[in-house]
Amino acid sequence: MKNVLITGGAGFIGSNFIRYLLREETGVKIVNLDKLTYAGSQENLTHLEDPHRHHFVQGDICDQTLVENLMREHAVDTIVHFAAESHVDRSIAGPAAFIQTNVVGTFSLLEAARKIWVDEKNISLDEARFHHISTDEVYGSLGPQEPAFAETTAYAPSSPYAASKAASDYLVRAHAHTYGLPVTISNCSNNYGPYQFPEKLIPLMISNALAGKALPLYGDGQQIRDWLYVEDHCAAISLILRSGRPGETYNIGGNNQPTNLDVVRQLCAVLDELAPDSGVPYDSLITFVGDRPGHDRRYAMDIRKIEAELGWHPQVDLETGLRKTVAWYLANTHWVVAIRSGDDYQRWIEENYERRGEAT
Ligand code: NAD
Ligand code: TYD
Repeated sequence: MKNVLITGGAGFIGSNFIRYLLREETGVKIVNLDKLTYAGSQENLTHLEDPHRHHFVQGDICDQTLVENLMREHAVDTIVHFAAESHVDRSIAGPAAFIQTNVVGTFSLLEAARKIWVDEKNISLDEARFHHISTDEVYGSLGPQEPAFAETTAYAPSSPYAASKAASDYLVRAHAHTYGLPVTISNCSNNYGPYQFPEKLIPLMISNALAGKALPLYGDGQQIRDWLYVEDHCAAISLILRSGRPGETYNIGGNNQPTNLDVVRQLCAVLDELAPDSGVPYDSLITFVGDRPGHDRRYAMDIRKIEAELGWHPQVDLETGLRKTVAWYLANTHWVVAIRSGDDYQRWIEENYERRGEAT
């Protein structure tokens, strides 16, 4: 791994991964291809360690010619594919962008990699790797007593977002099987941590709480997610790139499965301690609102494969991770304020919440 093309590196997980790679892999150069949608920002890439090893290109993964040119110009041997439309609620409001980027965009990247690595043989296939970042949501929703998702669990996506990611996973597998492209896939659970766009549960709750606004829980708040601290995710991806077997899928999760209500209560307790100026306990802001259509009830990841094969284990428990995350948002209020005051964000909050109504 010398020259890495990272897609979506100006988003939440991608920008954390770039920081991780620059810190941990001193010989690696990065080309970061990002369209800078509402979710991406160069503000996520300030104060990088060793910034001359990071080259930013604004562009679309659907532009196959651009990707091919970047791969030739930078002798790319590794692709780490994060770029996606990533928010379930937005996929319900407008699914077309999810099909375009997540399905067509992934296909375009795969075709570029096939052309440069398999047809043109620009580098030896032994040295090449296409790593695709996917999600636990492709497996659907678990009943209360069902075992956690394993790599062998049948796909049963339920939202347009999950269906688009499932389609992209199948395309990645087909390119490996048919053309011999050296791929790995990781399916991870809900990430949280610094630089997460405040449309997702944890950063939305932190930023609303600090603004004295309601904390909107969908439905009964008893849905369950498997929370993974983003640094743990970055370490897992890095290990898969180094030691994962081509053709394999690895599930990544945080080994904790609280309800959404528990997570928000824990967050409120941390905020009461770290930002005590609000005058009221933060959990008094919790408000139950109308549910998400087709809301998946429970996710849980069986991570025994990556633990046994690669020796990876999550290091950050939920309590510690929430503390680190709240501390980061408190130290970076300018970042939060810039996003919250943007037109897109305000439009989205209005569209998603003001018409949602109360819980029934
Ligand atoms: P994000 O929404 O924060 O960032 C996505 C990035 O991709 C943005 O910088 C955006 O500008 C860029 N992008 C979007 N469309 C593009 C296009 N057509 N061409 C180039 N760039 C484009 O997402 P994230 O939370 O960092 O998620 C990264 C990946 O991890 C996604 O593939 C997502 O499906 C997956 N994932 C995320 C989570 C999570 O909890 N955040 C969980 C499981 C899997
Ligand atoms: P989210 O962060 O959107 O991730 P995902 O839908 O991919 O799991 O949501 C996490 C959980 O929190 C999910 O069950 C929906 C719920 N949720 C709320 O209750 N209120 C909110 O305002 C948001 C954004 C999410």
